[in-house]
Amino acid sequence: MRRLTMTMTATAALMTAGMTHAADVEVLHWWTAGGEAAALNVLKEDLAGQGIGWEDMPVAGGGGTQAMTVLRARVTSGNAPTAVQMLGFDITDWAKEGALANLNDIAAENGWDEVVPAALQKFSKYDGEWVAAPVNVHSTNWVWADKSLMDELGIDQPQTWDDFIAALDKAKEAGLTPLAHGGQAWQDGTLFDAVLLATGGPDFYQKTMIDLDPEALGSDTMKQVFDRMGVLRGYVDDNFSGRDWNLATAMVINDEAVFQMMGDWAKGEFLNAGQTPGEDFLCFRFPDTQEQVLFNSDQFAMFSQGDAVSDEQAALATAIMSPGFQIAFNKVKGSVPARTDLDVGELDACGQQGYEEFKAAASSGNLFGSFAHGHANPAGVKNAMYDVITAHFNGEYDSETAVEELVTAVEINM
Ligand code: BGC
Repeated sequence: MRRLTMTMTATAALMTAGMTHAADVEVLHWWTAGGEAAALNVLKEDLAGQGIGWEDMPVAGGGGTQAMTVLRARVTSGNAPTAVQMLGFDITDWAKEGALANLNDIAAENGWDEVVPAALQKFSKYDGEWVAAPVNVHSTNWVWADKSLMDELGIDQPQTWDDFIAALDKAKEAGLTPLAHGGQAWQDGTLFDAVLLATGGPDFYQKTMIDLDPEALGSDTMKQVFDRMGVLRGYVDDNFSGRDWNLATAMVINDEAVFQMMGDWAKGEFLNAGQTPGEDFLCFRFPDTQEQVLFNSDQFAMFSQGDAVSDEQAALATAIMSPGFQIAFNKVKGSVPARTDLDVGELDACGQQGYEEFKAAASSGNLFGSFAHGHANPAGVKNAMYDVITAHFNGEYDSETAVEELVTAVEINM
């Protein structure tokens, strides 16, 4: 029944777009880890069910930095892919360049305005026009924990920064890696996102990461944030440099490390390894950020191939936003649906918690775009911030220098 409904909606979209035949879609994305690939399969199969073929254009590299570099090269050489996985301000940047197809008819046909939360629409739309279809909402301020190791070491779920440090100390004393981490700029940035929110609180997050206020960026609180990053650096193993995020997750899955601080795509890896939340692993909010949600949303932007959106682009966009697909996909991906009108009873405990917290945070003013995942400030600023955070994490700057460099980096790239 679900398939029938979706197929009919897609057909309606094709008619709206005035197109008649379907071809392959070429999709550029960075979903190459096990859990990510499993989620992507849900989308591929959905389209296959509509007779649409899939031309895969994967660009490995968490957070999508490499994917965005490849995209730029493809567009520059006049060979844009049909559809591209994209985050926040990157969508806005491409829309500004006039590169994206207008999805207004499909959005109107399927009532997107009513079901997609404003925080996402801010990026799905440019100048009032729909230019991207959101497939999910991820949230970054999570900790993933090995339940059996926590039980063995007598560690309770840490509620505060001090609890967290005490738990990390216990793990260290037991000879385990306390914090699984991969030394890549976007991962350092993901950690920084949570540490900054925990240390300075929501107003500080708003002022620094979103408003880019020089005074807040250069404040003593910011120095404390860097000091805390230095403290966490002491709980990371020696081989962290360059490690992919999913390999860090595997350390928790394999009982080598106790915690990983990562967005909820990490849950996709636990699930893909056959683990169950609450039994094998725990998910909880980064200590001292329990009231807030830092979010990022994967959206698919369609590159203009001519005057109108093509039939396969229309089908892809329609499938992505359909209720049945949003549940099926997000169950596997670790994220939650991008529409607020769904019954998420089929999601696991972490997913249900994430969905409720996302909605609650949106209505209480506690929802913030993740800086590390392109939802707080544009790529130029984000990348400049990454450089400073990574240099500090690797001991090239002390905290005071890092604060000064951060202020300068923002000033130059704003
Ligand atoms: C994306 C996720 C992806 C993660 C790691 C994030 O920026 O939003 O979908 O799983 O990067 O690759």
